[in-house]
Amino acid sequence: FAFTPANEAWAKTQIAKYPEGRQASAIIPLLWRAQEQEGWLTRPAIEAVARMLDMAYIRALEVATFYFMFQLQPVGSVAHVQICGTLSCMICGAEDLMEVCKTKIAAQPHALSEDGRFSWEEVECLGACANAPMAQIGKDYYEDLTAESLSDLIDRLGAGEVPLPGPQNGRYAAEPA
Ligand code: FES
Repeated sequence: FAFTPANEAWAKTQIAKYPEGRQASAIIPLLWRAQEQEGWLTRPAIEAVARMLDMAYIRALEVATFYFMFQLQPVGSVAHVQICGTLSCMICGAEDLMEVCKTKIAAQPHALSEDGRFSWEEVECLGACANAPMAQIGKDYYEDLTAESLSDLIDRLGAGEVPLPGPQNGRYAAEPA
């Protein structure tokens, strides 16, 4: 693994934000950029980031395995669907959403769909509980989902569309007065 020249230059600006001896503080942005570059966090990428930050590989791995936004195995080339499985979303139908993922993507979380274009997982609360149940796809939140609207979202993503994020039931915040 090697950062692209542009990403390497960016990484150096992140590292330079911290005092000498505290470079490890830049680990999250560097792991994130490595994941954006590769699609997921490979072991060579984690090793490269650890080397750049002068830290042990195991310490970098500890960070990468702690946060569910880091993917330690390949994800779908079109979308990785993260279904919130915490209380509000569970009460409001998260299990129905996961059934859609099992049917349309793969029976097991983190497995790739047969065509390699989709993957899914259950994650902890994403902080959008008022609009439960919801899913994060890429950097976007899709809220107030139903099995039908999630199924439709996956179809549209597969067709190359970029569905509008936010509530999927027409519920939008009131315009400011
Ligand atoms: Fe699902 Fe908080 S419980 S977003």
